[in-house]
This record gives sequence, structure tokens and C-alpha cells, in this order.
Amino acid sequence: MPSAERDRRVVRALCAWFARDQRDLPWRETRADGRRDPYRSLVSEIMLQQTQVARVTEKFAPFVERFPTVHALAAAPIDDVLALWSGLGYYRRARSLHRCAQEIVDRFGDVPENTEDLQSLPGIGRYTAGAIASIVFDEPAPIVDGNVVRVLLRIDGQDLDPKAPETAAHCWDRADRLVRVASRSRTNGVSPGVFNEAMMELGALVCTPRSPACDRCPVRGSCAAHREGRQHEIPRPKAAPDRRTLHMAAVLVRDARGRVLAEQRPDTGLWAGLWQPPTIESGSEIRKAMVSKHFGLASAALSRENAFLWQTSHRAVRVVAYASDRAPADSAAAGRHWLSRAQLGRRALGSLQRKLLLGPPTGKGTA
Ligand code: ADE
Repeated sequence: MPSAERDRRVVRALCAWFARDQRDLPWRETRADGRRDPYRSLVSEIMLQQTQVARVTEKFAPFVERFPTVHALAAAPIDDVLALWSGLGYYRRARSLHRCAQEIVDRFGDVPENTEDLQSLPGIGRYTAGAIASIVFDEPAPIVDGNVVRVLLRIDGQDLDPKAPETAAHCWDRADRLVRVASRSRTNGVSPGVFNEAMMELGALVCTPRSPACDRCPVRGSCAAHREGRQHEIPRPKAAPDRRTLHMAAVLVRDARGRVLAEQRPDTGLWAGLWQPPTIESGSEIRKAMVSKHFGLASAALSRENAFLWQTSHRAVRVVAYASDRAPADSAAAGRHWLSRAQLGRRALGSLQRKLLLGPPTGKGTA
């Protein structure tokens, strides 16, 4: 078991490195009183739950500009919130952030300051509560995510399965001990929030999964994996994820005014509540005859426009887009609407839906 002295060295070295080398990220700005804004911290932590920092960096400023306070967010229509969430993926988070804002206003008046109250809110688990409570309110609360597990296992030289529940429990205990060390130190810029954010930053920038930059690491002198040359073996590489392919066929129809026909997805499941062209989905390949039959359109009315593979974090989606010169049968009954580009721009669209409805392609799919 690592000594208390080694833990103090790790904490001090990490905090000093973070003060020097941290990235300039929009949610790290402080207010006039030198503290972070709790609401902005809440929004950023929810956005960062399953999305890369680079993508969040793009989407954060427009979001907090449109909804500058927890009250503004609570009072906003959910469709506006989803529209500003476009491109971040995992839209369930936008819905729970919206409910979270409403509960904050109803139950607390403002963002609560401790992990217990934070964790009682929708969409806030132990990690997010710990991040906000430590970074904004200086509570010595631990945080553990995939990055932190990797850093801890390497520092301690422990070849444990990073996905096993016992490993998570072990890492929460370990992170808890370290954040308490940070809370007791309190000199030279050491604090629970700085230590936690430094751990995240180290995992993102230096102690990366495949090519850790040990030569730039502030804690290499205390790292067992580095000492033993095992930084590439810890944690054990994981097996390739099982990605089931989803098949989608979309029909693009334009009217004489250039408006496109769009429908809203159900409000649960993949891409919940987002707008899309009339679409069918299946676990197996969708042939043109099936599209024709499903939408009540003659096969000759459908021309194949585009076919591509779209990758979400969990699924590969094989998309085939057809153009049609007439609308599918029963479109009004199916809740479809003719929408102009401007109207579509205000609806909730993911990156794939944007590519299909508004083209040209907007880049690699993550949503
Ligand atoms: N990931 C989760 N929270 C973060 C934060 N506050 N800064 C950078 N990356 C993060």
C-alpha cells in the first residue's frame, strides 16, 4: 500500500503541474470573486459526461449564452434546450439537465453546494456531484471515471481489471484518501478541486490509454507502473466492444418551396426526440422494396441518393437515403411536417439528422 508521504508527493506535484499546464477551457473561467459559477460548472460537467472536451468546448458557450442561469434553463421549452444540445449526442442528458434545473429552482433556489444534495438531482451521479462540489465548493469529495481509474492503477502499479466493480470500489477509496490529503495540505494552491481536476487533466493529456507521455508526467517519480516499465500493460487492454449494426433507410422529400418533410423520433431510446426525415430502422439490411412498401411509394418514385456508415459511441448505423418526388402515404397522420431550412435550424437535430436534412456532410458522427 502506498505510503502517506508518497500520496502527499503525488498530490503536491499534480496540483503544481495543473496550475502551470492546465488547458484554457471556457468553463474554467472564474467570476469577479475568483470562484467558478456553479451553474456553468453543472452544465459543463453534464456535457462532459460522455462527450469529448473539444466538442463540449464548441457547444458550451452558445448554450450558456442562450440559458445564462439555472432559472433561464428551467423556464426554457425543452425543444429549445434540445436544439442547443445538437451535436453533443446522448440527448437524454439534455432532458435530465432540464429537469435538474427545474428541481434546483423548486427545491433549492440555486445549485446546491454539497454532494448529497447534488446527487439527489436527475442526471447527477457520484462523479458529477463530486466534481461540482469539489471544484466549485471545495468539498473533499472524490471523483472516479475511466481516466482516473487508469491514472490510479498506474501510479500504484496495480494490474486490476479496470471494468470490474471491485476495481471501481477500490479506486473510489483510493481517490477518497488522496482528495483528503489534498484537503489537509492547502498550501501552494493545493485543494480538493484542483487535485480532482488535475487528475482528469493528467488522464486526458499525459497518462493517456495507449501512449502515455511519461517523460512529461509530473508524478512519474512516484509512479509504480513507470518504475516497472509497465505503463502500457496497466490497465489491461480491453476486448473490442460488441457493436451491433443498426440499419436505417430515410426518405428525403422536398416540396415546391424547398421545404423538407420531417418527423420527430419517439422521446425515448436512440436520438430521443430529434427530428429526422421519414425513416425506418431494422436490425438487418433494409431493401428498397421494403422502403417502398412501408411508405406506400412506388419503387420508381424512390432514387437512391446516398449510403454511408455512421458511427455512434455504441452502434454502427448503416444509413441509406432515398430521394422521393412525392410524400409517403399518411404523412400528416404520422405527424410529419414540411419544414424550411430556417425552421429545421431551430429544431433539435443530431449530427446525422443534420447531414441528412440539411447536408452537406458536417463531419464524423459522434451523436
Ligand atoms: N471531464 C469531466 N469534467 C471535466 C473538467 N472539469 N475538465 C476537463 N475535463 C473534464
